[in-house]
Amino acid sequence: MGENNLENKSYSRLARLYDLIHSDKDYKKEVEFIEFVIEKMSKRKVNSILDVACGTGSHAIHLKKNYFVIGIDSAKSMLEVAKKKVKDIDFFREDMRDFNLDRTFDALVCLNDSFSYNTTEEEIIDTLRCFSKHLENDGIILFDVLSILPKERVEINSFVENDTEVSRISKWVPNEKNTVRVEYIYFVRQGNNSEFHVDHHTYNLINLRRLRKLMKKAGFKDIHILNGFSKNRYKRGSPRAVFVGRYVRKN
Ligand SMILES: C[S@@+](CC[C@H](N)C(=O)[O-])C[C@H]1O[C@@H](n2cnc3c(N)ncnc32)[C@H](O)[C@@H]1O
Repeated sequence: MGENNLENKSYSRLARLYDLIHSDKDYKKEVEFIEFVIEKMSKRKVNSILDVACGTGSHAIHLKKNYFVIGIDSAKSMLEVAKKKVKDIDFFREDMRDFNLDRTFDALVCLNDSFSYNTTEEEIIDTLRCFSKHLENDGIILFDVLSILPKERVEINSFVENDTEVSRISKWVPNEKNTVRVEYIYFVRQGNNSEFHVDHHTYNLINLRRLRKLMKKAGFKDIHILNGFSKNRYKRGSPRAVFVGRYVRKN
């Protein structure tokens, strides 16, 4: 396994603040896009969706309006937040590279950089194998990946809600091995308490052609690469590629 542990530090210590830090994201709109693509691609009625690396359940809360949903994630604390937020669906602690829920789904999604935590080709192959094992014949897969090596840069952001203030310094460090290391320092103030956290994440920049080949090998057909969460084909140089495919089970 690569350097990302089953539970990354940020996700364990800062799970309670994850939704605040991502409050600018429009999850409802992302889910509308996901539903559009899945329904358009599918040759069968889609009733069930597996949300892999579901985080705090922000997609699941919208997906469950139209589908039976199960969420899995490797971070216990993220799942604790998800379970409080989304009452009537099951969440399980699982590693996307090695899990067995003993059931299949009509569709599977893995969103917002989560797939890019697979930092070696072996991990990608293991993850795709696990994904296909959990899909019905003709089941649809949709996941995004980081697609260009970003320039080295530093960002400062701050997020405020009621008595909670989070300030974050992030440094993006591209690596010649086609990985990006993002280093974070968080200052958190909640009422009279303050704390700080230091952490880093490593994301893989998978060659898109290679990834398409690996998907084909894993049994996926009708593979489309979209330009982020849009209906357009991937444009070279865009920062995020969304892969969609249909799993065809071998008899
Ligand atoms: C950037 S968050 C995205 C969460 C959620 N999909 C969203 O869009 O809000 C990445 C998530 O991937 C999870 N994760 C990282 N590596 C994982 C693995 N090997 N198996 C399952 N989940 C993993 C983390 O715990 C975290 O919740």
